[in-house]
Amino acid sequence: MLYDLVCKTRSFRRFKEGEPIDMETLRYLVDLARLGGSARNMQPLKYLLVNGPGLKAKIFHHLGWAGYLREWSGPKEGERPAAYIICLLDTRLSNEADCDLGIATQNLLLGACEKGIGGCRIASISPGLRDVLGLDDHLQILLVIALGKPAETVSLDEQESGRDIKYWRDTDEVHHVPKRPVQEITAGEYA
Ligand SMILES: Cc1cc2nc3c(=O)[nH]c(=O)nc-3n(C[C@H](O)[C@H](O)[C@H](O)COP(=O)(O)O)c2cc1C
Repeated sequence: MLYDLVCKTRSFRRFKEGEPIDMETLRYLVDLARLGGSARNMQPLKYLLVNGPGLKAKIFHHLGWAGYLREWSGPKEGERPAAYIICLLDTRLSNEADCDLGIATQNLLLGACEKGIGGCRIASISPGLRDVLGLDDHLQILLVIALGKPAETVSLDEQESGRDIKYWRDTDEVHHVPKRPVQEITAGEYA
């Protein structure tokens, strides 16, 4: 059911690095991204698909992981992403695409989840990634999506109204994601 799939589609940051994701699967995920809504139907997003070891290793060092987990500097070797999809904006077509990006990446991550693949959107990207990728001037990096078979458990927690929303890890290394209750986010109901 859709509700269960949405609940399972969490951000995963530790992966079974040795379990590859083939290019055909990455292309399928980009196809899902492509089919989302787009302002003015301009479709200014472009994607780089990466599952080769050399480039993956270079990309990893430009990413910022889980800012709330201060003592954790990111996944260790063996738990790093098996693949990346890098979301780019073609600035010849539009100068911003934040809504498109949200729709496209949620389509992509839902499809990944259905295939047993976990992912994480990463917006914390160091400027050096541009040089690593050798991008043309009209392409701007918006997000990196890290992908792989999950090697961690993520718990979706119903948070009490007004309480802290920072994600955290318990002593069993379970990652907890507090979500505000529906009552808190409902600004009004007009029956
Ligand atoms: C636009 C956007 C940017 C994000 N950037 C990062 C990031 O740079 N590093 C990271 O570890 N997680 C990043 N995340 C993941 C969020 O931390 C995550 O969505 C949030 O903790 C809620 O967890 P959930 O995705 O499981 O609901 C980002 C998420 C979004 C939507």
